[in-house]
Amino acid sequence: MSTNRYKAVIFDLDGVITDTARYHYLAWKRLAASQGVHFDEAFNEHLKGIDRMGSLDLILASAPRAYTPEEKLALADSKNAHYVELISTMSPADLLPGAVEALDACRAAGLKVGLASVSKNAFAVLDMLGIAGKFDYVVDAARIARGKPDPEIFLKAASELGVSPADCLGVEDAVAGVASIKSAGMTALGIGDPAVLAQADRVIAGLDHFALADY
Ligand code: BG6
Ligand code: MG
Repeated sequence: MSTNRYKAVIFDLDGVITDTARYHYLAWKRLAASQGVHFDEAFNEHLKGIDRMGSLDLILASAPRAYTPEEKLALADSKNAHYVELISTMSPADLLPGAVEALDACRAAGLKVGLASVSKNAFAVLDMLGIAGKFDYVVDAARIARGKPDPEIFLKAASELGVSPADCLGVEDAVAGVASIKSAGMTALGIGDPAVLAQADRVIAGLDHFALADY
């Protein structure tokens, strides 16, 4: 397959371009422990790609008591404060191997490059990584009504890039993210374990294996 198959590549951020998925995990783990909820890597897999309040709801579903909306907001704020502290020293050294090369390869092939992250910290993370200028369009998560696995965020990226969804390759590390790409009508490149990302069209271990001409 040639690179002309696509007109745009739309990347997820956390767990694809940088290992912030680890920091989300650590921050949710501490929050869960504070509420007496068991939390492990397997459970965390269901949270990847899920927005902040959606993730909190999934965690609190196994809490011993119910929470008011105000309590939930306070817990979400406290998780985010911890997360922001964890990422505060991030720099270009935190780019995952192959990330910059993959972004540059898409651009060199004449494709539009988009970012579709449901993280409200995405703009700050891109700045810390020094790669904000490498994207033609970055979706503002604050303006998305329905998070992944809904297709809204990938469809928004495609529409702002002026490209039809069928001409887009989406790149994701989360089960919910791959589902979002597929229901948007795009081709999905998974990053991680093929057994986990079974809905993806192709799965690679990381962007250091990214080869546009192969997909
Ligand atoms: C996604 C992560 O990219 O962003 C999730 O995979 C996270 O783990 C979500 O919950 C929302 O991030 P934030 O920074 O808005 O809390
Ligand atoms: Mg991700």
